[in-house]
Amino acid sequence: MHDNFYRHNIEDNSTQLKPINLFEYEKLATKALSQKVLDYYSSGAWDEVTLRDNRAAFERFKIRPRMLVDVSSRNLSTKVLGQSIKMPLLIAPMAFQRLAHKDGELATATAASIAGIGMVLSTMATYSIEDVAARGYENTPASPQWFQLYVHRDRGLTRALVERAYAAGYQALCLTVDAPVLGQRERDKRNEFTLPPGLQLANLATLSGLKIPYEDGESGLFTYFAQQLNPALTWKDLEWVQSLSPLPLAIKGILRGDDALRAAEHGAKAVIVSNHGGRQLDSAIASIDALSEIVAAVGDKAEVLVDGGIRRGTDILKALALGAKAVLIGRPILWGLAVAGEVGVSHVIELLRSELDVAMALSGCAEIQDIDSSLVIPARA
Ligand code: FNR
Ligand code: LAC
Repeated sequence: MHDNFYRHNIEDNSTQLKPINLFEYEKLATKALSQKVLDYYSSGAWDEVTLRDNRAAFERFKIRPRMLVDVSSRNLSTKVLGQSIKMPLLIAPMAFQRLAHKDGELATATAASIAGIGMVLSTMATYSIEDVAARGYENTPASPQWFQLYVHRDRGLTRALVERAYAAGYQALCLTVDAPVLGQRERDKRNEFTLPPGLQLANLATLSGLKIPYEDGESGLFTYFAQQLNPALTWKDLEWVQSLSPLPLAIKGILRGDDALRAAEHGAKAVIVSNHGGRQLDSAIASIDALSEIVAAVGDKAEVLVDGGIRRGTDILKALALGAKAVLIGRPILWGLAVAGEVGVSHVIELLRSELDVAMALSGCAEIQDIDSSLVIPARA
């Protein structure tokens, strides 16, 4: 592997201040990563309008705190799909984590498990389903591990991925539905993004020899999706996906109430409101703006989770007040990984935990159940 993929020196912390929030992690990671990797991780599609709006939308919602509540002891724990988590947070599925750090998904899984939060492993991981699962069980009680599925044109291959995830002990299948083709990230196109020598699709290469191609004038990942993923997937196929294992299904990438209801009616146990971190359809609605409509449409037929732009404890509080059961975070985990591997990921999670804890205290919430819809209003422009 090219050394320049790891330009940082994680042992040498002496010259840098310890980051105190997720934005500082991003700044440090920017220095630690090569430009190509940074571009892949940070970019959104086309003009990145949705990417920016994911953040801006959070700032438009305001909190109406309650006073004179006994918040002397706070409890952040809750459940997703019946499984306990120590705070309402999961790590979003993200491809190619070894581009950030040699321990990649293993470090992420270990940090998630120590913190007692969930982790969703990407189909496009750079460590195998089995190796990552082993990390999740190092602590008891084990925290949730879900497997994110990209349905490939090759149904046998897709089936094999699900069977492996089930056999390895993952507790839910997260089907991503917002990527029938890959969004156009122009920096990746310009960089002709591909995996460096020495890194491979840990699950797909062993099953089928599939790899991310190098292509002139195009992102290799864009080409991979065009060649390998099934753009003909529809609601009808959900039955087939569910027949592959007994795992409960979470559908990720929903932005409309009618789609969310349909997902629940097709048996999904959870809906993840997401625009893929602004990486798919640019100008798509910010995920936090889509949340209320979806919560109203789904009612108690499925759990609703949300991701996109969550960077502060107050963002988690807002998402829960708007009806989400839990949230997922993406890029900040990669920044933590890039800066200090497992230690960095643990610290990113801890920063969010402590921010949520303080935000709850300041808004009169001792428990997650206290975060109700009256706590948040959309800002008047
Ligand atoms: C992603 N995301 C993603 N989603 C998915 O379902 N499968 C995947 O393999 C990936 N890969 C991936 C790679 C990278 C580098 C990023 C940044 C994102 C999307 C991810 O799960 C999540 O929806 C967003 O990242 C959430 O937004 P924030 O928290 O990054 O703003
Ligand atoms: C991405 C894909 C792999 O967003 O989901 O890069």
